[in-house]
Amino acid sequence: MVELLSLWVAPTARGRGVGDALVREVERWARSVGARFVRLGVAADNPAARGLYKRHRFDATGEQGGLLADGVLREQVMTKRLQR
Ligand SMILES: CC(C)(COP(=O)(O)OP(=O)(O)OC[C@H]1O[C@@H](n2cnc3c(N)ncnc32)[C@H](O)[C@@H]1OP(=O)(O)O)[C@@H](O)C(=O)NCCC(=O)NCCS
Repeated sequence: MVELLSLWVAPTARGRGVGDALVREVERWARSVGARFVRLGVAADNPAARGLYKRHRFDATGEQGGLLADGVLREQVMTKRLQR
């Protein structure tokens, strides 16, 4: 299992496929080291990130992840099974 953490694209570069390229590259690297899953946590109120991960076929697991900055809400965990 590889964990994808802290994906960030500079605001001036957003909406041009940089996020897509980063997710694809993490998946490529994960396969190269023999991982079978990529796992990540995303805030419920982050539609840009959720849309990106859904487009890459990550599924919500229903599991709660790390605490968000407000110290109350938690990330929602998503995973993707990698094709060999
Ligand atoms: C979430 C984040 C990483 C996405 O990065 P990004 O580079 O904007 O992502 P993409 O460009 O690949 O995709 C974003 C949108 O641009 C669109 N897009 C992709 N390629 C495009 C292109 N060549 N021209 C125009 N639009 C394009 C996508 O269709 C997508 O639109 P949609 O969400 O309406 O479907 C970025 O918004 C970010 O850094 N946010 C702040 C940090 C954050 O929340 N990180 C995630 C933590 S879990």
